[in-house]
Amino acid sequence: MVIKIEPLSDALGAKVTNLNLEKEFSDSDLSALNQAFLKYHLLCIEGNPLSTFNFAKFAAVFGEPQMQLLRHRWDKENPEVSILESTYKTPESKPKDLNLVRLSGWHTDDSYFEKPAKATVLQALAIPSSGGQTRFSNTRKAFEEMPETVKSNIAELIAIHSYDTIRANARAQKLTTEETNETKDVQHPLVRTHEDTKLKSIYFNPNRTDRIVGMGRKESDDLLDVIYAWVTKEEFQYHHEWRLGDILIWDNRCLLHSVNVDYPIGETRKHQRVLLKGMRPV
Ligand SMILES: [Fe+2]
Repeated sequence: MVIKIEPLSDALGAKVTNLNLEKEFSDSDLSALNQAFLKYHLLCIEGNPLSTFNFAKFAAVFGEPQMQLLRHRWDKENPEVSILESTYKTPESKPKDLNLVRLSGWHTDDSYFEKPAKATVLQALAIPSSGGQTRFSNTRKAFEEMPETVKSNIAELIAIHSYDTIRANARAQKLTTEETNETKDVQHPLVRTHEDTKLKSIYFNPNRTDRIVGMGRKESDDLLDVIYAWVTKEEFQYHHEWRLGDILIWDNRCLLHSVNVDYPIGETRKHQRVLLKGMRPV
C-alpha cells in the first residue's frame, strides 16, 4: 500500500495513513515522510502504544536521539526515551489559574542547549477523556507574514535563552546539580534559517527566551511581547486532539507548542518522547 499524506490544517501538520509501523520502511516511504515533514513541519501517524524499545527504533528512522535533560524521566531500559506524565493526581495539583501550569506555556523543546533538538517524537500512552490537546504554532509562516519593516528590524537580533525566565508564567522544574551545570544561558538568533529548507522562522521560546542581547529589560520585554502576540495568532495554529497511540513528529526549528492543561483530575495523561539531535541555530 502506498502511504497517504493529507494536510491537517491550513497552518501546519499532515496526517500519514497506510504506514505499517511493524515493517521496515521502504526508501520511497522514507523519502515521502521526510519531504512531508519539511513541508508541513508536523506529521501525525496513527498507531498503538509501542514498547519503549520499538518507539526508540521508530524515532531513530528520523534522526539520532538526543539524551534529555531531566534524568528522572528516562526510561530504565531505553534511556533515550523519556516518559512524560502530566496527570493531575490530586485536586491540589491542578491550580485555579491554569497559566501556572508550565506545560500551558508556548515553547520549543530544548532551546536552552547550544544545539537544541531539531525534532520531537511524541506518542500518547494515556489520554484524558477531555482537554489535553497539544497546540502548535507555525513560526515559519509567522515570520513570512510579518511586515517587511518588522522582519528587517528583528533579522539580526540575538536572544538569550535560559533554563527559566521571569517572563514565563510558571516556574520550570527543579534541576539536580548535574542538570544545572548543563543549562548555562545560551544565545540563539531570533530569526533562524532552517538547515534543510533554507527558510527563515522566528526562534523564540516564550518559556525560555529571557531577553534580547544589547537591549534593556523594558525594551526587550516590549519587543518580545509584540512577537509573542504575533507568533501565537490563531491563523498560525493547529490543535491536536490526541487519540491513544498517536505519534506526532514535529520540527522544533519552526514550530512552537503548548498544552491545553484543562483536563479532569485523576485521569492519566501520559506520553513517551524521543528528541532528535539538531544543529546550532544560525
Ligand atoms: Fe514540549
